Amino acid sequence: MNGQYKAFWIDNNGFVEVIDQTKLPFLEETIVLKNADDAIRAIKDMIVRGAGVIGNIGALGVYLAVKENQDLKYIVKKIKQIRESRPTAVNLMWAVDLMLEKILNANKNDDLLELSFAQAIKICDEDSKRSTLIAKYGCDVLEKIMKEKGKTSINVLTHCNAGWLAIVDDGSALAPIYEAKRRGIEIHVYVDETRPRNQGANLTAWELSKDEINHTIIPDNTGGYLMQQGLVDVCIVGADRVSANGDVANKIGTYLKALAAYDNNIPFYVAIPEGTLDFEIKDGVKDIPIETRSEDEVKYIKGLNKQGIVEEVLITLKDSKAVNYGFDITPARLVTALITEKGLCKTNEKSIKEKFKQ
Ligand code: MRU
Repeated sequence: MNGQYKAFWIDNNGFVEVIDQTKLPFLEETIVLKNADDAIRAIKDMIVRGAGVIGNIGALGVYLAVKENQDLKYIVKKIKQIRESRPTAVNLMWAVDLMLEKILNANKNDDLLELSFAQAIKICDEDSKRSTLIAKYGCDVLEKIMKEKGKTSINVLTHCNAGWLAIVDDGSALAPIYEAKRRGIEIHVYVDETRPRNQGANLTAWELSKDEINHTIIPDNTGGYLMQQGLVDVCIVGADRVSANGDVANKIGTYLKALAAYDNNIPFYVAIPEGTLDFEIKDGVKDIPIETRSEDEVKYIKGLNKQGIVEEVLITLKDSKAVNYGFDITPARLVTALITEKGLCKTNEKSIKEKFKQ
């Protein structure tokens, strides 16, 4: 792919240009990342976000560090800072560790800049191929559900954004939906708004609109009612980390959707590429680190005012306390299966190990 992806690309100067996701859907602006610190800031401030893309920008951030300074001490220091820029999405650590391994194993005659660029692009390209396979396997699931129900159309519910803004280049949870469109399947998507940062309302709805995919934004608390009324055929979400036993860390609120799906006998799938698996963590509910972000993200909301200007307003009393956990854990028992580049995988240690560990 030579560094050309939908959410970011390599510009003519060898820098990394990203879509500024904090501005969507009102403004379509890009930012150029010129060094490792720019990449760290982009990840921390969620200019780029979503597990896969965080990993990709992490890897490209390492390449930018090499572009700045080829002293190994400097590179390793920057790698450590990039690795720590967000805590939950393990794709970041996975991608950055692949970069470190490549750099540490370089031969004396290797051109470090060329080598780090090639490795970062390889990580992105492989994620893109994984996304294509997730699209195929996930869409097969959608077709099977339709067939079993004797339906000619399907209603999917998704949470947060796991489209191409989050995983190059078709997404994870949205990949089967894009594939359904390509296969001519009549599909409708319920998009959880995903408070407090509204990745569903701002990003998923924007992505689906661009592709003219029929969708409806719903307040986060609506899913359970829709499921009771038979309006949802299947839930598909992405993930930021899946532990060895199949517990799933994803955007806060995912767990409640899984509980509602379980109670209503609705299949609940989690679409992930390999880099989202964490074999070190045996019990996800206990041990996956959960990011806590600023309470201001709960207390303020951003939108377009009547004059067409993007504005942030306080929606609580200034002194009210708020808490902002970025993610929650859905226990493996509530997940029907993982949709991966290697096909469907049951959420238990044995199945995950068999599929992914040689
Ligand atoms: O805080 P974010 O927006 O980075 O969180 C993103 C999510 O939780 C997505 O659902 C998840 O990354 C899966 S997308 C690959």
